[in-house]
Amino acid sequence: MPDIALFDSHCHVDFHHFDDDRDAVFERMQQQGVTRLLAVSVELEQTPRLQALVAARDNVWFSVGVHPNHEVDSEPSEEELIRLAAHPRCVAIGETGMDLFRHHVDPALQQSRFRTHIRAAHRLNKPVIVHMRDADEVTLRVLAEENIAGCGGIMHCFSSSWPAAKQALDMGMSISFSGNVTFKRNDALRDVARQVPDELLLIETDSPYLAPMPMRGKRNEPGFVRHVAECLAEVRGVSLERLAEQTTANAMRRFGIG
Ligand code: NI
Repeated sequence: MPDIALFDSHCHVDFHHFDDDRDAVFERMQQQGVTRLLAVSVELEQTPRLQALVAARDNVWFSVGVHPNHEVDSEPSEEELIRLAAHPRCVAIGETGMDLFRHHVDPALQQSRFRTHIRAAHRLNKPVIVHMRDADEVTLRVLAEENIAGCGGIMHCFSSSWPAAKQALDMGMSISFSGNVTFKRNDALRDVARQVPDELLLIETDSPYLAPMPMRGKRNEPGFVRHVAECLAEVRGVSLERLAEQTTANAMRRFGIG
């Protein structure tokens, strides 16, 4: 048995991609020393599925929220988010944020949806999972205007510059790195990852997407977060054991677990 205990802070293990072999995915994850995960919501219809997932396992937690680029018939209200998040194993709100890379949802609508999520998170005193893609300026501005420091949050799948990371860190945000930090050409992102303070560093897979090296191109799964951890340990000049201990403690503290 591995002697490390990694926490995949962002994955979508309830998605249909895993319907044929979900139990095997959880088994392989344990074999890789990945002992806990957060299953992240992209639409509210998912909530019952996420509740069933956590009911069957004691090492899984979930979030409630609507992805910035997810088209919906009616926008989620603060009250609706609060009602769905009233579950002992719901430990975060999101994923939410801004995505100007794709435009399935109008940017103005994304922004008001983002603000609604942060306001619900304040009332619940839960952290916000933030998706920021090609939208640094507006995302960071909304976080500041909505006083994100009051409830805290996570910059998930971080892929922006150090100045953007620094602004988020200065608001108390955790920064989470996924498989793309392992990609050969991503020296600039590894340089950002090197500078994040120990206590604000998180790791994730965002599975089924974005598998890390050497699994790039395959379906991603939570066990592969070990490759992200190995990459960050090397970049930061610490042992894998130390990196695991630190990032897991950070995730537990951020999500208010244990
Ligand atoms: Ni995601």
